[in-house]
Formats: sequence, structure tokens, C-alpha cells
Amino acid sequence: RLPLPAEIYEPLRGNSMGVEFGDRAALAALLAEIEAARGRSEARPESSAAKPSRPVVSPIDGAAIGEVIECDDVAARDAMASAARAFAGWNATPVETRARILERAADLLEARRGVFLALLQSEAGKTLDDALAEVREAADMCRYYANQARLVCREARLPGPTGEDNRLRYEGRGVFVCISPWNFPLAIFLGQVVAALVTGNAAVAKPAEQTPLIAARAVALLHEAGVPRAALRLAPGAGDVGAALVDDPHTAGVVFTGSVEVAQQINRALAAREGALAPLIAETGGVNAMIVDSTALIEQVVDDVLASAFRSAGQRCSALRLLCLQHDIAPAAIETLIGAAKELRIGDPRMLGVHVGPVIDAAAKEKLDRYVARARAEGRLLYAGEAPSAGTFVAPAIIRLDRAADLREEVFGPVLHITTWRAGAFEALVEEIQAGGYGLTFGLETRIGERIEEAARRAPAGNIYVNRNMIGAIVGSQPFGGFGLSGTGPKAGGPDYLRRFVRETTVTINT
Ligand code: NAD
Ligand code: ALA
Repeated sequence: RLPLPAEIYEPLRGNSMGVEFGDRAALAALLAEIEAARGRSEARPESSAAKPSRPVVSPIDGAAIGEVIECDDVAARDAMASAARAFAGWNATPVETRARILERAADLLEARRGVFLALLQSEAGKTLDDALAEVREAADMCRYYANQARLVCREARLPGPTGEDNRLRYEGRGVFVCISPWNFPLAIFLGQVVAALVTGNAAVAKPAEQTPLIAARAVALLHEAGVPRAALRLAPGAGDVGAALVDDPHTAGVVFTGSVEVAQQINRALAAREGALAPLIAETGGVNAMIVDSTALIEQVVDDVLASAFRSAGQRCSALRLLCLQHDIAPAAIETLIGAAKELRIGDPRMLGVHVGPVIDAAAKEKLDRYVARARAEGRLLYAGEAPSAGTFVAPAIIRLDRAADLREEVFGPVLHITTWRAGAFEALVEEIQAGGYGLTFGLETRIGERIEEAARRAPAGNIYVNRNMIGAIVGSQPFGGFGLSGTGPKAGGPDYLRRFVRETTVTINT
């Protein structure tokens, strides 16, 4: 009998690719597909000039699951030059052809889901639920951007004075450098790349150093779907490779998702470049808050908080970091929350029924362990679970804060902070959160209609969630992205995203 995932997480809508965990036959078939797809993988740039190979290890148990050959300076330059040569031909390819290639890629992704699910688990430490949601999201991105490109990349006829014909044309800018993080190594990696490609740009893709294997599979899949090899090049490596690509004279734009510090470095590097100006699309982190007032339903709050703070081991930019409970319900809410947190199972995410997998690597674990130890020493630790001693696991932890303003850094893992507020202080609390400068996600749990409307108008975040969890934005329904320190916009998975990737030309002809 297969153990089923506990009901503790409200399932995210649209995440399961048609697999109902209650359908044992379908689940068994899926697990067999994943098992058959396990094996070693490889990631390498196409240039012969590159560094010696290094093993890629799983965060679950440290096992070597493949090898990566990272770019040196010559390989990075070669990738950019190759993409630059391919740009004109790809840009001249009709948008309908490019859109169909993305749709073919989505079909292939679904057909090959076993390979991607296996790698999302072994390379990124994802639970089956999270891995399924990510494959779903990646396929959604391909189909959504294909349709959006058909709308955006059409030449428009514009009104004007008699005797003049005005047209507005959209096309690729040149070579887009796509730099992505490890926490959505398929959906974000692919989302950036297909947005750049479908609008006519060539792309050089630099995945996070922790997750090059999934990226290499995704690039191979896009080539198989019909993207010319030279128009999309993989450039594996660490931050120095990303920096070299940003500095390259062929760079016509950068799309980046990751930490705010690196986004700021890239911004400075682009500003310091000689020659043509290149835009930066940056999606970064957040110190995301949820405010709960005394009219909220505690059971729902607990479900939503657990999913928002601890799902994906808290390694989502959207994750809840700061829970603000109205004073009078705080003791009961905290007690219920800790009781529910004790039920979370932490361990090998390939096991069904595990809720919290590993954090990405030993460095992340060390940083988080130190942070929790400091809170314990200061007497602020309300709860910490038990993590397996081997591997890079961090158990969910809950830390008390005196004020919302005490949390100003993004703690990227399963660590939830709680503070309380008194009746009459709602507005001041929202301002205190806003003063931190981030603006990614915001949650509100209340039964007061006016408060909901007020928060919807004024809450300081790009994505506002009311009476539900704060994660798992759906492509096309919940365009995702923040402002302030959290990013430049436009929102990924939204109708305006592709517009930042195109060059616009107005043609006025005197007839
Ligand atoms: P990171 O900033 O350390 O790295 C992101 C990417 O940038 C990696 O590929 C890295 O190699 C590269 N990089 C590092 N230094 C560089 C430099 N100087 N020039 C160019 N590239 C460089 O982030 P991470 O640890 O991989 O990911 C976690 C972060 O990403 C968190 O802050 C999280 O909030 C954020 N994130 C944001 C979103 C969003 O949509 N807003 C989504 C996922 C993750
Ligand atoms: N788009 C991801 C989420 O909403 C980061 O959780």
C-alpha cells in the first residue's frame, strides 16, 4: 500500500498534471516513470574551451548524480558570439513558427515528465508535489508565452494625419542573457529563456551553479522542439560566468531572477558598460508578511501558514517570512500552529508523505542553522523540529520578534517569524512592513470586507493573497513579481512580460 501525502497542505490548484494522489494506479505509474528516468546526467557548454568537469551532488544524500563542465571566459564569449550570429535568422523567423516551437516544447515536457521529475527531486531536492507543480508551470509558461507572442509581436497600424501611414513593429533586441536561481531550476530557467526566444531574441542561458543538469535537459528539449542550436546556448558556471555574460558587448538585455544583492551588482555592471544600453528585468526576493486579525479562522490560518512558510522547505521567493497575529488570538494561534508544525515530516523528498525536503546545499544549511541557533540563544525560538542528521536538512523553526521592523533580511529557508499587533495598529503595521523596502507577496486573513478592499488597494506587494496561502502563482491567472527591492517588473506569467523583451520601431510613410 502506497502511503499518501498527508492532507496537511491544501493542494495547490492546477499543479498535479492530472495525477490525483488518491488514484493509486495513476500514482504507481507515475512513480515507475520517475524511477525509470533516474540516472546520471551531464551539462556542458558547446565550446571546447571550458573548465575540467566537476560532479553535481544531490542535496538529499550527497550522491553524485552527474557532471558539469563550466564555462571559462573563452567559452562564455563563444556562446555570446554564436548567439549573436544566429540572432538575425531567428528574429526573421515568423512569430507563428516560434510560437509553435514553444507549444511543441510544452508537449515534449509533458511526454518526458519522468526525466524532469527525477532531476527536480535529485538535483533540487523537491517533493513529488513540488516537482509536479514545477513541470506543470514550465509547460504553462511555454504555452502562455506562445499565445502572448502572437498578440504582442504583430505589426500594428496606427492612426495619423491624412497622407501618412504609421506602423509600429515589434522584434527581438539581440542576445538576451538569462540568469536564473536554483529554487525553480526548470520553471524559472525555461520561463526566462522561452520569453526571450519567442519574441525573436537569441538567448544565452546561465543556470544556477547548483542545478545545471535540469537546465541542460531543458535546453536539449528546446533544441529538439525546433530552436536552432546557435540561437540558444547553455553557459553553465558560477556567478563569474554570469558577470562575464552581462559584460559581453553582444548583450542586448538581461533577464535575472535571484537575490537582490546580485540584481544590484548586475544593474551596476550594465550601467558601467560602454556602448548600447541594455535593459535589465530583475525578479528578486522578499520579506513577505501575512497579517491575521481576530476575525480570521484559526484552522485556515494554520493550513495557509504551514504551506506558505514551510512548503518547498521555505525556499520560495514568495514564501511567508513574517506572520503578524492580532494580539488577542496570538496565544491560541501559536499553540495550534506549533501543534500542526510537529506533524510535518522532514526527510528524503522522494518518499511520499514527506513534507519538507533538504535545503539546497551545505552552505545554505550552515547559514540557516546559525540563524536559528542565535534565536535560541536569545530566547526567541518558539519551536524547532527535528531534522535528519545526514544531508542538508533544516527543520522548520518558528521565531518570536518584538516588532515587524526587526526582520529586514530575507531568511531563505523554513524559518517563520511571528510578531503580534494590537487593535487599532493595522495601518501602522502595514507601513512598518512597507518601510523594509521589499514588495513581493503579502497575505491577509480576515473576515472584514473593508479591510480586504483596503489591503487590496494599499498592501505593499506585487502579489496579494487574501484568506489563502501565499505561494504557487498560476501562469496567466496570477502574474507574478514585485517592486521596490523585490524587482523591476514586468510580471512573469502576465500579459506585459514579453513587451520588455522586444524592440519597437515606428515607421511613418508619407503616402
Ligand atoms: P543568487 O542571486 O545567489 O543567484 C542567482 C543567479 O545569479 C545564479 O545563477 C548565480 O550564479 C548568478 N550570479 C551570481 N553572482 C552573479 C553576478 N555577479 N553576475 C551575474 N550573475 C551572478 O540567488 P539564488 O541563491 O540562486 O536564488 C535565491 C534567491 O532568488 C532568493 O533571494 C529568492 O528570493 C530569489 N528568487 C526570486 C524569484 C522571483 O520571482 N522574484 C523567484 C525565485 C527566486
Ligand atoms: N512563482 C512562485 C510562487 O508563486 C515563486 O510561489
